[in-house]
Amino acid sequence: MRGAVLEQANQAITIRDDIEIIEPRVGEVRVNIKYCGLCHSDLGFVDGTMPMMGPMIPGHEASGIVESVGAGVTHLVPGDHVVLTPAPPCGRCYYCQRNQQSLCVNAMSIMTNLLPDGVSGLELDGAQLLRGCGIGGLAEYVVQPATGAIKIDKDIPLEVACVIGCALQTGVGAVLNTANMEAGATCVVLGLGGIGMATLQGARIAGASTIIGSDPVAERRDLATAFGATRVVDPVTEDLAAICQELTGGIGVDYAFEAAGKAALIEQGIGLSRMGGTTVCVGSPALEEGISIPNVVMFQAVEKKLCGCLLGSSNSLYEIPRLLRLWRQGLLDMEGMITSRRTLAEVNEGFDDLANARGIRTVIEI
Ligand SMILES: NC(=O)c1ccc[n+]([C@@H]2O[C@H](COP(=O)([O-])OP(=O)(O)OC[C@H]3O[C@@H](n4cnc5c(N)ncnc54)[C@H](O)[C@@H]3O)[C@@H](O)[C@H]2O)c1
Ligand SMILES: [Zn+2]
Ligand SMILES: [Zn+2]
Repeated sequence: MRGAVLEQANQAITIRDDIEIIEPRVGEVRVNIKYCGLCHSDLGFVDGTMPMMGPMIPGHEASGIVESVGAGVTHLVPGDHVVLTPAPPCGRCYYCQRNQQSLCVNAMSIMTNLLPDGVSGLELDGAQLLRGCGIGGLAEYVVQPATGAIKIDKDIPLEVACVIGCALQTGVGAVLNTANMEAGATCVVLGLGGIGMATLQGARIAGASTIIGSDPVAERRDLATAFGATRVVDPVTEDLAAICQELTGGIGVDYAFEAAGKAALIEQGIGLSRMGGTTVCVGSPALEEGISIPNVVMFQAVEKKLCGCLLGSSNSLYEIPRLLRLWRQGLLDMEGMITSRRTLAEVNEGFDDLANARGIRTVIEI
């Protein structure tokens, strides 16, 4: 099959026509990928922020059509339209049983870049190719556990639906699931890329009263209001802390979302949140970055909270259909998230736009 191959960080991605992919095995489906969005988590491999254990097919925000199904798959048939999720829940493990499917121990493919049983199912020049973020969506086909391909109605355009797979699941989920935000809440979103814009949308859906968006890139601040920001801030030229104080009556925000992937912004979020407030780590900082809480006794005494967030703490089987219902009601903007469309041959230019924060999401037509 044809696909995009990243041999090493900081090298151009090449398009190859001779990638080998396995047939779907028991409980798996093979999906003919139609569209795949570019997310900063893919860029992490491209620019070397995230270490690579070998050559890979990047891409994990994908939609397509089921081509074939393996034994035992009864709920999907060839021809079904699907959105892929990087966290296919097994339904059996401790975490799935307690409704924390994003932590499914059998869906760690997102970390291993392999299928749950440890194979990648992909080969090039006789060597294994990894599945970027557990999917490898920048290719003609993906073999996926059947719970990782969520059926969608055929009238939903696949070219738009792909952005649900990561950006919307993660950003909206960070608000509705991880933070469990209540109506009327106040919040700040640090970083207004695809993930941050989806987080703004989540806050709007939750009924937040004050939604502050911070990003040094003017174009992104300009777009943020349409996604729900009630105030945008340039953190370089404006005093974000003073603005958060002013807009919350001197209390601080109920929720701070780090959506840029910079550890220092987690510390900023903790500072901006009120007593008892919650900071959600949505972004994925470089492996070597850490944070410090210089005065733990103050953190303790004012009951601040800090939590991680993988894929919006979503149960994808529930979350993706729910997001599509919100979209049908006009409450969720999927189309506006996509600011550029490119062919697979232009994938390097697409990543260049992402690295330079041009537009929001680029969708690659496979
Ligand atoms: N938790 C998850 O499951 C999950 C899922 C997808 C992506 N991510 C991570 O989320 C992060 C964002 O992804 P994205 O695709 O939206 O990336 P992006 O590159 O499109 O957006 C990041 C934004 O952060 C902004 N930024 C940089 N410095 C800033 C600062 N000091 N203050 C405010 N904003 C600042 C940039 O200008 C940019 O607009 C990445 O780290 C990505 O790896 C995590
Ligand atoms: Zn992503
Ligand atoms: Zn599980």
